[in-house]
Order: sequence, then structure tokens, then C-alpha cells
Amino acid sequence: MNAARPPGYVLRVAQDTDIPAIEALDRENMRAQVERNYPGSWDDQCSRDLIARHLAQARIMDFAGQAVGHFYWWQDPPGTAILHSIQVMEAHRSRGLGRWMLAEFEREAIAAGCHTAELAVFEDNRARNLYDRAGYAQIGMDGPHAYVLAKRLTP
Ligand SMILES: CC(C)(COP(=O)(O)OP(=O)(O)OC[C@H]1O[C@@H](n2cnc3c(N)ncnc32)[C@H](O)[C@@H]1OP(=O)(O)O)[C@@H](O)C(=O)NCCC(=O)NCCS
Repeated sequence: MNAARPPGYVLRVAQDTDIPAIEALDRENMRAQVERNYPGSWDDQCSRDLIARHLAQARIMDFAGQAVGHFYWWQDPPGTAILHSIQVMEAHRSRGLGRWMLAEFEREAIAAGCHTAELAVFEDNRARNLYDRAGYAQIGMDGPHAYVLAKRLTP
């Protein structure tokens, strides 16, 4: 998938010092969704540990020198790229940034030798539209309230 870089936005490799901002945006965007679907399951420490463990594959999106979004992923099993988090601050949404980051994730996954991209999305999350348009298809469920979507990656 190709997507143009929206003017003014840049992606960079995340640093240790970015962990608090990644954690804060994950919490701001996802906590209510997670808690609505699986009450009591949001865990700040677990979220922090996950980010720290996968920091090498975390990308920060900056605008005017400020972090306004991110994504991070890992392989499990090798060859399958799991997009665990893709986030844009509310004020910056619906201008093509999600599409751009998704395309960058796929480009990196292909470069790392992956043949498949996978992610989970809650059934009540309209982010599903973004993934459908990018060619993802449902392959199963992640618990009773989230779909697992996948896409074959072609170099
Ligand atoms: C999902 C998200 C990363 C997309 O980024 P974006 O820059 O808004 O996306 P784009 O402008 O490239 O594409 C627009 C699409 O994004 C999705 N989107 C936009 N606002 C959204 C929101 N508040 N919540 C969920 N998805 C949203 C929709 O699929 C939208 O398409 P639609 O208008 O046809 O429904 C961003 O909206 C976001 O951070 N949402 C909250 C966190 C989240 O749900 N992350 C995904 C977890 S699976």
C-alpha cells in the first residue's frame, strides 16, 4: 500500500524518552474502548512494559516538533507482523495520517521479511474502515468483542 506523507508530518524512530508520551496517548485513545469491552482489564504497567519491549519497532509521528501520533509492532510468529498500536491525537485525525502510518508499518514489515500483517480492532471501532480500505480481511476473533484482521504483504 502506498500513501503520501501529509505535509508537515515526519516519522522517526522512538527513543526511551518517548515512552511516557506513547503510553499517555495509548491510554487517552484506547483505555475507554478497552474498559468498555473488557471491564477492569486496562493495566498501565503492562502497557508500559509492552512499549519498552518493542521500542525498536516504535515510530513517533511529529508535527511542528511535537509528538502527535505513533505506531509500534512486532513479529509473532516470525514472518507475521502484528500491529499492536496505531494512534493519532484527536486534533490531527481524518487527514490521512492513519493511512500513511499503516502504509509505513507495512513497508517496514516487508523490509523485515514479513509476509503477513495482522491487527485486532474492537467491533465498535470505526478504525475498521481504515483497515478495510487498505485491504485487510477478517480472519478470526480476539475475544468476544474484537476482530482479527490480516493482509498478505507483497514486496
Ligand atoms: C484510527 C486512527 C489511527 C486513524 O488515524 P486518522 O489519521 O484519523 O486516519 P485517516 O485520516 O488516514 O483515515 C480516516 C479513518 O480513520 C478512522 N478514524 C477516524 N477517526 C477515528 C476515531 N475517532 N476513532 C477510530 N477511528 C477513527 C476511520 O476509519 C476513518 O475512516 P472513516 O471516516 O471512513 O470512518 C485514529 O483515528 C485514532 O488514533 N483513533 C483512536 C485510536 C484507535 O482507535 N486506534 C486504532 C486501534 S485498532
